[in-house]
Amino acid sequence: MATRTYDPNTVIIFDTTLRDGEQSPGATLSSAEKLEIARQLSALGVDVIEAGFPAASPDDLRAVQRIAREVGTPDGPSVAGLARALESDIRTAWEGVKDAAKPRIHTFLGTSPSHLGMLRIDKAEGLQRIRDAVTLAKGLCDDVEFSPMDAGRTDTEYLIQACAVAVECGATTLNIPDTVGYVMPSEWADTLEMLINETPGAGPGSGVIWSVHCHNDLGLATANTLAGLKRGVRQVEVTINGIGERAGNTSLEEVVMAIHTRKSFYDLRTNIDSTQIMKTSRMVRNYMGMPVQPNKAIVGANAFAHESGIHQDGVLKNAETFEIMTPETVGLTQSKLVLGKHSGRHALRVRLSELGYDVDGDELMDVFRRFKTLADMKKTVTDADLEALVADEAAQKPEDYFRLVDIQVVCGTMGMPTATVKMVNQHGEEIIVAAVGTGPVDASYRAVDEIIQAPSTLMEFNVHSVTEGIDALGEVTVRIAPEGGSRTFGGYGADSDIVVSSVKAYVAALNRMIASMGFDDVAPEGDVAMVGLSA
Ligand code: KIV
Ligand code: ZN
Repeated sequence: MATRTYDPNTVIIFDTTLRDGEQSPGATLSSAEKLEIARQLSALGVDVIEAGFPAASPDDLRAVQRIAREVGTPDGPSVAGLARALESDIRTAWEGVKDAAKPRIHTFLGTSPSHLGMLRIDKAEGLQRIRDAVTLAKGLCDDVEFSPMDAGRTDTEYLIQACAVAVECGATTLNIPDTVGYVMPSEWADTLEMLINETPGAGPGSGVIWSVHCHNDLGLATANTLAGLKRGVRQVEVTINGIGERAGNTSLEEVVMAIHTRKSFYDLRTNIDSTQIMKTSRMVRNYMGMPVQPNKAIVGANAFAHESGIHQDGVLKNAETFEIMTPETVGLTQSKLVLGKHSGRHALRVRLSELGYDVDGDELMDVFRRFKTLADMKKTVTDADLEALVADEAAQKPEDYFRLVDIQVVCGTMGMPTATVKMVNQHGEEIIVAAVGTGPVDASYRAVDEIIQAPSTLMEFNVHSVTEGIDALGEVTVRIAPEGGSRTFGGYGADSDIVVSSVKAYVAALNRMIASMGFDDVAPEGDVAMVGLSA
């Protein structure tokens, strides 16, 4: 568990992966997955976890409550729940977070002309709403944060008034959002400095924490956030991998590593254990089914890769020539685990534990079995391979409605690609279906569709090789949408056979869709069918 300490030069890391991040198209998570991510965020050392928007649905409320109880321990992070400036939202947010050792209510109201217009209220009514909301929240919870939504397009005089009312009514954190990713770093820095100096009751020395929350529509979220830190902001609202509404939020890893790498420029610190960054990034990517672009700063697959001869030569002679931080600082281990088929479970467990995965019991047996198969095929099993195996095991949960048992495909230039898929449903019944398609993945997906019978559209399909070489594990992430629905669901799978990873990812996404839509028994009767022959 990360140790959190505070001084005026500590930047409070407020992680909103589970709230704003979960609002990304396709990023729906089950409450068990949210809990696991929250645990990992705590290990990473974030100071505040915004666990969700409890008024959004009873499921959201329950997920926030579980995180508050199980992760919001006295040594752990504060747990925040988001609430519109409405009595019912605020009371529900309090129900969500009240069992945390350090609960926080985060309430917001749009203050720009277009947001006030959308609410059909004028500026004076807006101030009254803020007064009522913050007063109510403060009566329930000592730690209250207020955000004037769309501050980036709000006139500064009204922003000062809104922030002053919030502070007068007991808000202890003032978060200034650039909701639509509109502002430029230098103007944003000036606005923030002006707010800090001119808001009555919230100036330097008042104890009020100033915060920023930036969106990335113009690719400036990190720059705008860092510009705020230079002018007195001491809380940043961020997400893992920069996920979030539209183009996303500020990336936690980018801000943290900028502070870490440019120590003398910022003279700031965080409570983040940076070696946990890669693990957290992969977990979020896998659970949300949202791939990370290869050239993404800090966590992209190429972030530490040196391709050109001059660069490789330089790095080999002295890493500092082309590296401003080492891969190890962000938890990218370089070591190769050379274990062959005679290696034991103990060595595997120890290496997994060194990588931050405490795997035991049946889970260890499953990973061990797969490790052996892989070690038979590959000369070296890398840490990245091991992490992919663990992620794949986690993605195929025992509570899933359908589980892939076996798959066989026949494909090539002769004949029709055909897949035979054997699955087991939640009642333990085996179902086997064969189907043809335009290629091996298409044929397999058709067979799976015939078994699961939960109509969906494939929105995204990504394949990525875990390591170099022909024998590498292939990771697949997919995103699907139920027929006629707008929400999307992600899935992840890893295997040395790319068709198997593809099917695993698809089945994981379908299971998530079924769990969320709440239908229980969608398995057809019978065992063998042949479909798609006329397709
Ligand atoms: O972008 C935004 O304005 C938000 C607020 C709710 C803080 O997410
Ligand atoms: Zn936001």
